[in-house]
Amino acid sequence: MNNLSPAELVLVKKACEITRDALNYCETLIKPGISTKELDKCVEKYIIDSGATPACKGYEGYPATLCTSVNEMVVHGIPSESVILKEGDIVSVDLVVNYKGYHGDATRTFPVGKISAEKQRLIDVTKECFFEGIKNLKVGHRLGELSNAIQTYAEKNGYSVVRELVGHGIGKNMHEPPNVPNFGKVTSGPIVTDNAVLAIEPMINMGKKEVWLLEDGWGVVTRDGLPSAHYENTVHVTKNGVEIWTL
Ligand code: MF3
Ligand code: CO
Repeated sequence: MNNLSPAELVLVKKACEITRDALNYCETLIKPGISTKELDKCVEKYIIDSGATPACKGYEGYPATLCTSVNEMVVHGIPSESVILKEGDIVSVDLVVNYKGYHGDATRTFPVGKISAEKQRLIDVTKECFFEGIKNLKVGHRLGELSNAIQTYAEKNGYSVVRELVGHGIGKNMHEPPNVPNFGKVTSGPIVTDNAVLAIEPMINMGKKEVWLLEDGWGVVTRDGLPSAHYENTVHVTKNGVEIWTL
């Protein structure tokens, strides 16, 4: 688990604040008729104007600033002019910002116009999964306590947890050890160390847990075609508790 210097933590925190602000700005743009490409262009400009860079763009060949995943898409939807948001959709917007070499990572699932009560409940429970998780994130305890709390809460609500994608450490790199699964035994995972920075990101399916990878090599969709939601924050864990830096 990472253990960054105070000066480095200042930069991670700043990256997280830009990530949060850019997602809040993105939310103001979301309405029926806008393309996911348009969202991507606007948020990219916002980040550059903030003195930061979009970290996903160019990462392992990923072509965009945002991941915009609509309805049954779980993650890594590539923004496109031909994906036009429509009333009743949900869209998960995932963003990683690089500020002076340090990273912040967050995701929100937004409603497009008026959505069904079922989709709203999926969004709400996914967010609650994150908060149930971090109640169980403590220095000196197993990371599995968080993982298990997320899985238990999702399944208690009749939903399923994606297994193929997990949260991660973050700092100088977008992805650092450890993996942060949203499922598992309380006794699993490493012991949480003081001063760790982690991206915690439940991906919760309304139906079954199984997913497919699309032919573009990025997009991940539910096999049963039912909607999926995603909620992610970058957090800093110390003996004094958990601070959420992208809220
Ligand atoms: N926020 C995503 C993550 O947590 C970012 C991956 S998109 C990629 O892993 F294009 F950068 F791979
Ligand atoms: Co992430």
